[in-house]
Amino acid sequence: MSEKLSTEPYKGVRDFYPEEQFVHNYIRETMAAVAESFGYSEYSASILEPSELYSSKGAANEEIVNEQTYTFTDRGKRQVTLRPEMTPTVARMLAAKRRELAFPLRWYSVPNVFRYERPQRGRLREHWQLNCDIFGVTEVTAEAEIISLASALMHAFGATSEDFEIRISDRALLESIFTELSVTGDEKATVMRLLDKRAKTENFMNALTEVLGERARELDDRLSRASSSTALESLLSTLNERGIHNVSIDTSIVRGFDYYTGIVFEVFDTASENNRSLFGGGRYDNLTSLFDTEPLPAVGFGMGDVTVRDFLETHNLLPEYSSSTDLYLCSASDDVAEYIEEVARELRSEGLNVEVNLLDKKVGEQIKLADKKKIPFVMCIGKDEAESGTFSLKHLASGEEKEVGLKEIATAIFS
Ligand code: HAM
Repeated sequence: MSEKLSTEPYKGVRDFYPEEQFVHNYIRETMAAVAESFGYSEYSASILEPSELYSSKGAANEEIVNEQTYTFTDRGKRQVTLRPEMTPTVARMLAAKRRELAFPLRWYSVPNVFRYERPQRGRLREHWQLNCDIFGVTEVTAEAEIISLASALMHAFGATSEDFEIRISDRALLESIFTELSVTGDEKATVMRLLDKRAKTENFMNALTEVLGERARELDDRLSRASSSTALESLLSTLNERGIHNVSIDTSIVRGFDYYTGIVFEVFDTASENNRSLFGGGRYDNLTSLFDTEPLPAVGFGMGDVTVRDFLETHNLLPEYSSSTDLYLCSASDDVAEYIEEVARELRSEGLNVEVNLLDKKVGEQIKLADKKKIPFVMCIGKDEAESGTFSLKHLASGEEKEVGLKEIATAIFS
């Protein structure tokens, strides 16, 4: 006999069984609802992009492009990449229709994105990422809105202000230090990446010295003294006025992408057992210049479903599973099968989700099955019910039963 295939999914990706899909939907629906409440409109695009979108200078992050993209050659010999993030895609879409769009533009999307990373807590090879971006605003009001939105999202997930903190920084601070120390070009990109990984890098100073030589100490020194900028101060006070106090300036926040040009931020879990960055973003004013000459100011962030799920789990905020099916119809005798189908059709037309029994099983077993599937209501139909048109509707969790006519079932369940 031939060897059987493994049932494992591909490394670093997830299967979503109904209970996981339920959590996944909850996360995506909450993301969408909060984004829409701030006036953001949904867009989407294909998973496939021409590879050059990521290899152009200034577009992304060398590590992602060189080591983490899923890239292949199609049958027409074109280089194709599974999107590792959404930002280059949205920049491409905007540049294509720039003249038709009404700015400031507020857009959101919850795409799945792919990165060939070493799978670990909070990091997988496929994740869904809420992207919220505002285009066409140069003032810090855009950052204030984007961070207010990020904060509102956390609260919508049930978090309190003590559960998370927002750390903000300004790339302009870094840029001026880089200029003073003549750190430019590739050197700058490498240092930026090192700084982004500082907390996770064991011998940070050694690594920095390898790139900058004697300037490493000087850079470190200036960084520790660079404490704020006018933009940061203004942002901080606006957020405080809005009642957002779990925000602080932290100049060690750099963000991994080359395209950020100004304020950057990251949101951290404060729980000691999950003390990690949950998501982040910032200002990137030059990305559309890949496609045309006019730069377009932009501020946004990406929030991954994996880190959000870990956060919800850590803080006991995961929603309890409930089936999307409202009612299970048990059959108490064979000869009412068609009648049960008729009842089901009627109830579905009234907006109920109804599952019917198809197997020759005892009523008790059918009820157990409905319970196992976490379907909240059951109704057993036999000859008596078919003749009288009166049913006993049972709520499984409480055990309560109610006598109802066909027309009263939907109201009884929805109330
Ligand atoms: P990013 O920091 O690379 O930024 O990703 C944003 C978020 O996506 C992360 O903070 C994390 O929640 C999640 N994430 C990233 N990689 C993984 C992974 N391998 N597994 C699970 N979750 C992950 C960006 O992608 C920017 N394009 C965001 C942005 C939008 N900036 C402006 N607009």
